[in-house]
Amino acid sequence: MCGIVAYLGRREATPILTEGLKRLEYRGYDSSGLAVIRDGQLVIRRAVGRISALEARLDDAVRGATIGMAHTRWATHGGPTECNAHPHRDASGKVALVHNGIIENYRVLRTFLEQEGLALESETDTEVLAKLVGHFYTGDLADAVRRALREVRGTFGIAVLHADDPDQIVAARRGSPLIVGVVGKDEYIIASDAAAIVQHTPQVIYLADNEVAVVTRTGFRTTNLDAAPVDKEVEEVEFTLEQLELGGHQHFMSKEIFEQPEALRTCMRGRIDLHEGRVVLGGLAGVMRELVRCERVLLTGCGTAWHACLVGEYLIEDMARIPCEVEYASEFRYRNPLILDRTVVIAISQSGETADTLAALREAKDKGALALGVVNAVGSTIARETDAGVYLHVGPEIGVASTKAFVGQVTVLSLIAALLGRRRHMSPAACSEYLTALHNIPAAIERALELSSQTRKIAAEFIDTNNWLYLGRGLQYPIALEGALKLKEISYIHAEGLPAAEMKHGPIALISPGMPVVVIAVRDHLYDKVVSNIEEVRSRGGHVIAVATAGDEQIRELAEEVLYVPDVPEPLAPLVTVVPLQLLAYHAAVLRGCDVDKPRNLAKSVTVE
Ligand code: AGP
Ligand code: GLU
Repeated sequence: MCGIVAYLGRREATPILTEGLKRLEYRGYDSSGLAVIRDGQLVIRRAVGRISALEARLDDAVRGATIGMAHTRWATHGGPTECNAHPHRDASGKVALVHNGIIENYRVLRTFLEQEGLALESETDTEVLAKLVGHFYTGDLADAVRRALREVRGTFGIAVLHADDPDQIVAARRGSPLIVGVVGKDEYIIASDAAAIVQHTPQVIYLADNEVAVVTRTGFRTTNLDAAPVDKEVEEVEFTLEQLELGGHQHFMSKEIFEQPEALRTCMRGRIDLHEGRVVLGGLAGVMRELVRCERVLLTGCGTAWHACLVGEYLIEDMARIPCEVEYASEFRYRNPLILDRTVVIAISQSGETADTLAALREAKDKGALALGVVNAVGSTIARETDAGVYLHVGPEIGVASTKAFVGQVTVLSLIAALLGRRRHMSPAACSEYLTALHNIPAAIERALELSSQTRKIAAEFIDTNNWLYLGRGLQYPIALEGALKLKEISYIHAEGLPAAEMKHGPIALISPGMPVVVIAVRDHLYDKVVSNIEEVRSRGGHVIAVATAGDEQIRELAEEVLYVPDVPEPLAPLVTVVPLQLLAYHAAVLRGCDVDKPRNLAKSVTVE
């Protein structure tokens, strides 16, 4: 989620706010906005696109104020438009609010406000919160904020102003970080990330979940949501600015690999009902009848997204028993595809701007398919051109090599498979068991991330090797492809992913003594077959690096290296087996001195054909 900056002090607010937004630019965003209080009035400016677009809108009306706040948005509800950009106001126009996070129950709250006669102007969940604060306001802004937040389910990092009180900022957090920088007893800067604070002060207060800070020109106080005082210590920020932007990581790719557990928790938030054993995907509500009656699902995408499609194919056919096919978008668009009645086409895309995927989607729509999207970038072209869809909600992905978006895509496809399965033959108990296992995947990924140092050692051992093989069967075949792509695209080492059984049909001729062969050999229904493939590789002198299930001692006898991942149900195993392969590729690229976040010849979004 993106960024908040708020300022209260003796200096002019606007330049401090825009400079702070620029410090948060690395977090990715699609629009931004700013509010100051001047002469008893709230003055708000908002813009789509770069922060320079917002700066171009800053006129004299926002000069001379010493209190204000600003926001960079990574849209989750409602596309990146000026109307959806923050700050959002309450009905009186005197309360302004900026927000990072997701209000899960915003629909319920929106209905309540509309029944109270309030009209909402935007598509966002945030505006609902702003209107709710205004609804509860009776003169004490902090009380109104606490009252509103007690009604909220979901995550928030917020800052709130009231035009009638130019000497107070109210801030609060749950799930989205918020820090109060103490510049002096009468000067404060509040931000989502210390990167926007350190140039003003190293003295900070880290708000914890469900804490509210009231900052004034004579000091600050913190409470919980019930107004009980909470003592907070002022701490010292030691990081450099560069370190802060990367969260202490050397590269965004590393940061995003290690963000995967939290990214999936956000991706699944509000979408799994364990008690009822059902999936809740609001973005598909409008097409559920057509979707449930579909007789064929076609998944399409490019690169890593195409690998996610391959995992989705297995899951949809296995759980929903609906015929499912996968097509490279670049192939699908040119082959005059057969789109029969009751066909659903699902386009998978992190950026939502990939030209081939967009063209494939348009081709499918032209031929009458129900066109859905599984996209990360809200309001992107693909998202806007689908009939309906499901956003990943994994936050902006900055490294060119897709990591957290891949596990987000697989997770959403897992949810869609369960949604369809439950509408067909899957029992509530079976669905609840599956969803419980899915809910526990972030913790399993946390354990898989502990393989980082072991994968670094393996990468170092083969630093000068220019040919790798990756083998997998069933659900692990797409992961073999993904592991090979990761290695190729960031370390420039040639690698090929194959169905393990295909070795004997030719590629086994490639095996030379000492050649690294990564084999995904988790304890699933194909384990014994994979073990036979490992034997084939060993008998030709290949160096076997096995990704195996924790506790599997047999594999130790067969492989030179074993990367143990947690034991999870077979349909969900791709979400953990991909992690050591991401780490292996990352370390290989770093050790070879490659530009990990911006590999040669590649772009984060391939908007050309
Ligand atoms: C993934 O690591 C690659 N950078 C690339 O294959 C990417 O997955 C592909 O270009 C599709 O991008 P999209 O998900 O934004 O559509
Ligand atoms: N959910 C809010 C929106 O879509 C905030 C998104 C963010 O964290 O930037 O506007």
